[in-house]
Amino acid sequence: MNRKTLAALGLAIGLAMPAAAEEITVGLMLPFSGVYAALGNDIEAGFALGLETFGDRTDATFTIIREDTEASPPVALGKARKLIMQDRADVLTGIVSSAVLGAVRDIVHSSGVPLIVANAGNDEATGEACSPFITRMSFSNGQVNRPMGRWMAEQGIGKVFTLAPDYAAGRQMIGAFADSFTEAGGEIVGQAFTPFGKTQDFGPYLAEARASGADAVYVFYAGGEAVSFVRQYDSFGMKDALPLYGSGFLTSALYVDAQGEAAQDVVTALHYVPTIDNPENDAFVAAFREKTGRVPSEYAVHGYDAARALVEASATGAADRAALADALRQVSFEGPRGALSIDPATNNIVQPIYVYRTIAGETGMTQEVLAQTPAEADPVNGCDMAPLIN
Ligand code: BEZ
Repeated sequence: MNRKTLAALGLAIGLAMPAAAEEITVGLMLPFSGVYAALGNDIEAGFALGLETFGDRTDATFTIIREDTEASPPVALGKARKLIMQDRADVLTGIVSSAVLGAVRDIVHSSGVPLIVANAGNDEATGEACSPFITRMSFSNGQVNRPMGRWMAEQGIGKVFTLAPDYAAGRQMIGAFADSFTEAGGEIVGQAFTPFGKTQDFGPYLAEARASGADAVYVFYAGGEAVSFVRQYDSFGMKDALPLYGSGFLTSALYVDAQGEAAQDVVTALHYVPTIDNPENDAFVAAFREKTGRVPSEYAVHGYDAARALVEASATGAADRAALADALRQVSFEGPRGALSIDPATNNIVQPIYVYRTIAGETGMTQEVLAQTPAEADPVNGCDMAPLIN
């Protein structure tokens, strides 16, 4: 479908396509309740700080309409409809869960309202279901987990048991890790996918991991599930027998102090940790601390960078939503996580990944960076962007 067709479709369903460049209505779609509520709050805090920090680079003003998506695809789809059809949002941002991103993808694409993804890593949204209207300023599930498969194999770890919640993000993150780990010579000796948002007791899965003959365990959990998982892993005495690895959401700065010593020595990988040493990160950490009294997490940096991308795209004078979407795809800057840009083939972010160990610091748990992998674009994964934007 080309842009003219999309514009016609937008008009057909009653959308005034051009937005006044100076007054931009932003639909902020985040979980403010449920298992990912803390993540949503941190993204919102980062987004507000980003608008405050960079807002004077554009003449545009931003009106924010916030909607609670929970971690629920049907709830989020209803909220997206309201923002697009009723509130006439010029741009959407947010989205934490990969399942929610999957649910809203079609309405975003067919309405032509640009979406800046500020968390959800769903590979398909920048793969086979990519759209010129979806730009991701966070990460993709494959991008964060692939480097860790190679890195762990290089450390001589041979056999791994994996665990994750049973939904799109868990399946994709573990799939990417398992592919790169086995390609590098490792072996996956067992896997378990736990009911998402419903698992209180990880004991039976930990017993399975212990009996599997693995040398280590690799997991994806985030939010409240990450806190309970890490605490239970420690209290079941698993850490000595089977070192714990994972994608870095497991030991996010947002909740690592709630995990405390249970998180000590867990090794994970992510595109942002607050201890990254660069001037942009120093300024971000200081400003975020001043506003909130805590260090920023990866979730906060997604919000901050999404706001900066929106400001920079609107400063190009984009006169309508399609122009704004085009400008978003061209954003690149040095931010708190290092140099980042958008891959024109997929609209996914290109950024370095950091392997880090959680250690006890002077004022709480902190992150020791062990390795930085070079910025790597995701494989195109079936994305056929060019015909969409002709
Ligand atoms: C996801 O569903 O894509 C996701 C949720 C929380 C943290 C990271 C990824």
